[in-house]
Amino acid sequence: MGLLNGHRGVVTGGGSGIGAETCRRMAAEGARVAVFDVNGDSADAVAKEIDGLSYTVDVTDFDAVAAAMTDASERMRGLTLLYNNAGGSTLSPIHDFDVAEWRRIVELNLTGVFHGFKAGAPLILASGGGSIVSTASISGTRPAAGEAPYSAAKAAVVALTASAALEYAPSIRVNAVSPGMIRTPLTELLLDDRGIGLESREQAKTPLDRIGTPGDIADVVVFLCSDLARFVTGQNIVADGGMTLHGSGVDGVLDVVTELLSDR
Ligand SMILES: NC(=O)c1ccc[n+]([C@@H]2O[C@H](COP(=O)([O-])OP(=O)(O)OC[C@H]3O[C@@H](n4cnc5c(N)ncnc54)[C@H](O)[C@@H]3O)[C@@H](O)[C@H]2O)c1
Repeated sequence: MGLLNGHRGVVTGGGSGIGAETCRRMAAEGARVAVFDVNGDSADAVAKEIDGLSYTVDVTDFDAVAAAMTDASERMRGLTLLYNNAGGSTLSPIHDFDVAEWRRIVELNLTGVFHGFKAGAPLILASGGGSIVSTASISGTRPAAGEAPYSAAKAAVVALTASAALEYAPSIRVNAVSPGMIRTPLTELLLDDRGIGLESREQAKTPLDRIGTPGDIADVVVFLCSDLARFVTGQNIVADGGMTLHGSGVDGVLDVVTELLSDR
């Protein structure tokens, strides 16, 4: 008996990293899953692995999100789970951020989540209720220099989560997960020796003494979506191996990157 038997879910940014592993674990727990990603090939590959549905969708385009969500709900005979997970960022001092790049990061990490709620919540209500989880970040609860639009957007995702939990209770439970340093294509360049090579530094900042895996976050999402979390709503669960007890994941990284670039 799976924890998510009978559920039908959409995962945005489901083609890679945390989203892809969450698709796999949701499916392993009995859910039918529609994989949404701006990269259609990666969405197709994950959907194929889990016998799910695949959609090439940019979460910053509301009409595209709404059309795909409606189609997925029709094909899966309803929608009960939504994981708003697509996101990412670049690093720069505040005054050096191009206005367009600021807008892109906020659109992707915050407005994309709003689009998920706007398109998905009515479908979940029509299906009799369910659960929505969004990926925030420890960057939202403990920001570092260089990640201003990302931190601001992720902190806003936590506030949006609280508002939505109030609006959709008791039918839909709404929570956020805030990952610490997780090894995915997003952080590979930062961690790997072929990139900036900060793996041992990041590990030393983590009381649980390792870099996180996508499965560390996927399991929290499955828990939040499942009946085990039936009395949990409006919360932001930090899953960071204890890192924010010391500071942020990217404290000082802007200086490291700036120095590296000036040497080239
Ligand atoms: N990896 C970490 O250490 C870490 C830490 C904290 C928070 N997060 C957050 O976790 C989430 C997943 O990150 P990840 O590490 O798995 O990264 P990832 O790069 O492996 O996966 C992100 C996925 O989102 C997709 N995507 C990007 N822009 C999109 C858009 N506009 N529309 C639809 N899909 C889009 C990408 O194609 C990719 O498949 C993000 O919200 C990220 O901010 C990651």
